[in-house]
Amino acid sequence: MSLFKSFFSKKEPAVPFDLSCIRADMHSHLIPGIDDGSKTMDETLAILAKFESLGYNKIITTPHIMAEVYPNTPEVILSGLANVQNAAKEIGLSLQIEAAAEYYFDQSLIEKVQQKNVLSFGNNYVLVEFSFHAQPDNEHRLFFEMQVADYRPILAHFERYPYFHGSTEKAIEYKEKGALIQVNLNSLTGHYGPGVKKQAERLIDEELVDFVGSDCHRIQHLMHLEEHLHLPYYHKLGKLQLKNNTL
Ligand SMILES: [Fe+2]
Repeated sequence: MSLFKSFFSKKEPAVPFDLSCIRADMHSHLIPGIDDGSKTMDETLAILAKFESLGYNKIITTPHIMAEVYPNTPEVILSGLANVQNAAKEIGLSLQIEAAAEYYFDQSLIEKVQQKNVLSFGNNYVLVEFSFHAQPDNEHRLFFEMQVADYRPILAHFERYPYFHGSTEKAIEYKEKGALIQVNLNSLTGHYGPGVKKQAERLIDEELVDFVGSDCHRIQHLMHLEEHLHLPYYHKLGKLQLKNNTL
């Protein structure tokens, strides 16, 4: 290629997407030591400071609640939250910090919903994750019980379930039943593999995404995201009617 041609074919560096328009993150694991996320308060504070520098002004952190694996309770999460809020205040962070949970979908979740014993946020939203291996078979029962109890399920990282890849049929069906769809920001970088990336793009193309989340477990997740914000799909995402800024 001649010097002339290479000079003129050189692309302008793309503008990074401004995360401050997302305003609130609603999926992360930042209560120290209670799941597979942050292990120490220092780690949590570093992550929160990073969120603040990226332009976020609210974090709703969502530790796992998963039967035997992470048997967290609302009490454990809320007392951990109080410690995080105090520590963040002490170092002068100004972003708002709240907590709910990421509920793994099994029979015990249906019972918790019936007892109204779940941590919700925003407009009675409850963050729910499905198994990564097997397609759920009684999710409509969950949606029904949630409706009765006046909760609204948000389906966590919907693009990450391999059994739904290649189609958006289930996303459409679940949304018709009142569920909302959350996509992980790092899915657009290929962080979870090409199939997940493609599915996230498909959900964005069809404007099926209600919320985006960092699903931040450690600071590297935010650094990775920051390095990829120039990707076109972040800009495309920013044009959707996301509900993060209603939280
Ligand atoms: Fe998560």
